[in-house]
Amino acid sequence: MLRGKNIIVGVTGGIAAYKAVDVVSRLKKQNANVEVIMTKHATEFVTPLTFQTLALNPVYVDMFKEPKNYDVEHISLAQKADLFLIAPATANIIGKIANGIADDLLTTTIMATKSRVIFAPAMNTNMYLNPIVQKNLIYLKSLGYEFIDPETGLLACQTYGPGRMAEPIDIVRYIINSFTNKKLQGKKIVVTAGPTIEPIDPVRYITNHSSGKMGYKIAEVAQSWGAEVVLITGPTDLKPPKGIEIIKVNTTMEMFNAVKSQFDSCQVLIKAAAPSDYRPEVFSQEKIKKEEGKRDELNIRFVKNPDIAAHFGKLKKDQIMVGFAAETNNLIQYAESKLKKKNLDFIVANDVSKEGAGFKTDTNIVTIIDKKGKVIEYPILDKSQVAEIILDKVEDLLNTKS
Ligand SMILES: Cc1cc2nc3c(=O)[nH]c(=O)nc-3n(C[C@H](O)[C@H](O)[C@H](O)COP(=O)(O)O)c2cc1C
Repeated sequence: MLRGKNIIVGVTGGIAAYKAVDVVSRLKKQNANVEVIMTKHATEFVTPLTFQTLALNPVYVDMFKEPKNYDVEHISLAQKADLFLIAPATANIIGKIANGIADDLLTTTIMATKSRVIFAPAMNTNMYLNPIVQKNLIYLKSLGYEFIDPETGLLACQTYGPGRMAEPIDIVRYIINSFTNKKLQGKKIVVTAGPTIEPIDPVRYITNHSSGKMGYKIAEVAQSWGAEVVLITGPTDLKPPKGIEIIKVNTTMEMFNAVKSQFDSCQVLIKAAAPSDYRPEVFSQEKIKKEEGKRDELNIRFVKNPDIAAHFGKLKKDQIMVGFAAETNNLIQYAESKLKKKNLDFIVANDVSKEGAGFKTDTNIVTIIDKKGKVIEYPILDKSQVAEIILDKVEDLLNTKS
């Protein structure tokens, strides 16, 4: 997603410098060209070699070292940057930039660049809340410098409060978002994700293998394309992307009610969840006992849950509705019948028994079938690429409606 972008990462002397390693690695995975400038103090925490190995580029520390090419480094880096990221940003670098100090390669290059500059501050809570630091932050923001605010949590200095650098995944998301065409701006998209769980008694439930990865990726890409996103999610291990409204549910009935609360105000409903089709007819208030010797079988009667997609498919007016069909056999046949029965605009079918497809993987192998009967088979793709294909199709449909 960042192919062709030159991102200069400035690393300063804070304990969170180790997290900058992950940031650089993630930026490279997004195909950005990454060049790293470290302050002298940053090299006390992580070696330049670590960044050089990950970025596949030389790492710059010293302004007065003989240039490796004929450019003056701080000028050539400043000019080629599409974006500057300072992570971690110490109180010191924030103070220096706010006061026009350019006494090393990093500060000098920041001063010389016309590109966007983003700071990811990281420091002890008292330092972060210090009025001098706060004044510098406000001043830099007023000049157009951007900040990815630190999180509140337990810091390396064993204090609890704001100051912990934002997670690398969130920093990279912020950068991707900022480069992305906002083609879904003004649209509200509701995405359901993950499994549901149906309780049997206070300690047991039935569920399925859905991980939520596909739905979360769709929500993330839709947000980066400018949509207002509501993610209705069953229990998963995933961290919801920042800035997305999250509605957490357990049962299919709860998911149904959550969709109901959002349906009228949305333009798009994408049903990537795997809600349980059935629930136990009776919830036992007490734990069901084995009753040694007396009980060799346990019969639980299940009753049907509402079919969320079919229900809202009947009610839909202008909304685009997308469904998923996770099957193990007769994929296309089942998917086509689901598409019609649920009045979907298109359906994303995947054979969950194939390697590289389905629930827990980061990849998927999908076939998309639309209302007009058009069938497109895709090769194995990353779930974020599948999310882009789905949302491109949604955008086309929205455009033909408007
Ligand atoms: C172990 C250790 C951890 C530090 N962590 C931080 C930090 O998280 N944030 C910060 O602003 N300063 C931190 N400092 C202080 C900075 O290293 C110090 O202000 C230094 O001058 C920053 O230089 P630089 O901004 O040029 O890299 C730390 C110092 C030490 C010794």
